Amino acid sequence: MLRLLLFHREAEVVYASSREYAGKPIHFAHPHLRGFYRSLRFSQLSIDSILKADPDAVFMALPHGVGTRLTAELVESGMLVVDLSADYRLKDPSVYKEWYGVEHPYPDLLEKAVYGLPEIRRDELKSAKLIASPGCNATAAIIAVAPLASSGLLEGIVVVDVKAGSSEAGGKPARSSHHPEREGSIRPYSVQGGHRHQAEAEQELSRLAGKPIKVSMAAHAVSSVRGALASAHVVVGEGADASLERVWRLYASMYGKEPFVRLVHPVLSPRGIDVKYVIGSNFVDVTVGVDEKAGRITAYSALDNLVKGAAGQAIQAFNIAMGFKEEEGLYYPPLHPA
Ligand SMILES: NC(=O)c1ccc[n+]([C@@H]2O[C@H](COP(=O)([O-])OP(=O)(O)OC[C@H]3O[C@@H](n4cnc5c(N)ncnc54)[C@H](OP(=O)(O)O)[C@@H]3O)[C@@H](O)[C@H]2O)c1
Repeated sequence: MLRLLLFHREAEVVYASSREYAGKPIHFAHPHLRGFYRSLRFSQLSIDSILKADPDAVFMALPHGVGTRLTAELVESGMLVVDLSADYRLKDPSVYKEWYGVEHPYPDLLEKAVYGLPEIRRDELKSAKLIASPGCNATAAIIAVAPLASSGLLEGIVVVDVKAGSSEAGGKPARSSHHPEREGSIRPYSVQGGHRHQAEAEQELSRLAGKPIKVSMAAHAVSSVRGALASAHVVVGEGADASLERVWRLYASMYGKEPFVRLVHPVLSPRGIDVKYVIGSNFVDVTVGVDEKAGRITAYSALDNLVKGAAGQAIQAFNIAMGFKEEEGLYYPPLHPA
């Protein structure tokens, strides 16, 4: 977030919090930002210190549950809040309780929060006061399948397989994320009962489809640092027109003008999609293939979980809510090779 905001011509960072680095310069926590943010130091996190800095907008990037109250207080004080955690993504408090294990303390605010996926919520984002920035795997899943959902081609269940790099797990190391354990590994996680992000994907795809859509997500940890690849499998009903030509038209009509979705034709494009082609950027690359004999459509998306899956997408939604150009601070090519 701090890296991306440096190149945003409409935004100036006036405050950043950290418990561990309070009072210290930004590069103590983020050595790649050495030489930038020379006049900014981390503050202890508190509503008073935020109000004193008097920002127009606040990005909350805390583990879920930690900033729920602070977010509510900041919204109450009139600031635009973009929350990157899962706290305000689910509209139904009972679904929130099912996946996060506690009653939501601010169910009324769930109603007001706008799910921050610009490709499907752009109009509502224009007047948002609280933006619930989507989960990285949910973003990958929804973007992969949205054109099928809005066309009525989705029936039954969408099975999403996600492969994700280690930075999805946040900054705190654990035994399973320690380098000797993670390097070279390809392993499933959240094996029993599905992945939390499927609830968000169900909510948003059902809304697009105008009927309940079931989503089941299987997640795999791979050894790269950044990137998530979603493969979303859909079985189409017998007799449905699910030729590649039709499916491709659906994708082209939904995403043709999207600034950050790059469609890759499965036959005509000489190279397919890969997380390696989006690293460091706000782009999400999408392709789709049809197995007509089996009646299966598989849609794939690749994104950088820390940019289109987190900070970049949050800035994109913030740009829309603030009335800035949507691409501001975000329109540059990925690193390659990375
Ligand atoms: N990583 C991803 O790919 C990704 C993608 C989309 C959304 N998100 C969501 O975005 C949020 C931030 O993600 P992250 O990967 O940066 O998570 P993280 O590393 O687990 O947490 C971010 C920071 O929050 C602070 N923090 C942790 N516990 C706290 C507490 N109890 N009270 C106050 N501050 C606390 C820590 O900073 P200090 O110790 O310096 O205070 C920590 O560095 C999470 O909700 C995450 O689910 C993450």
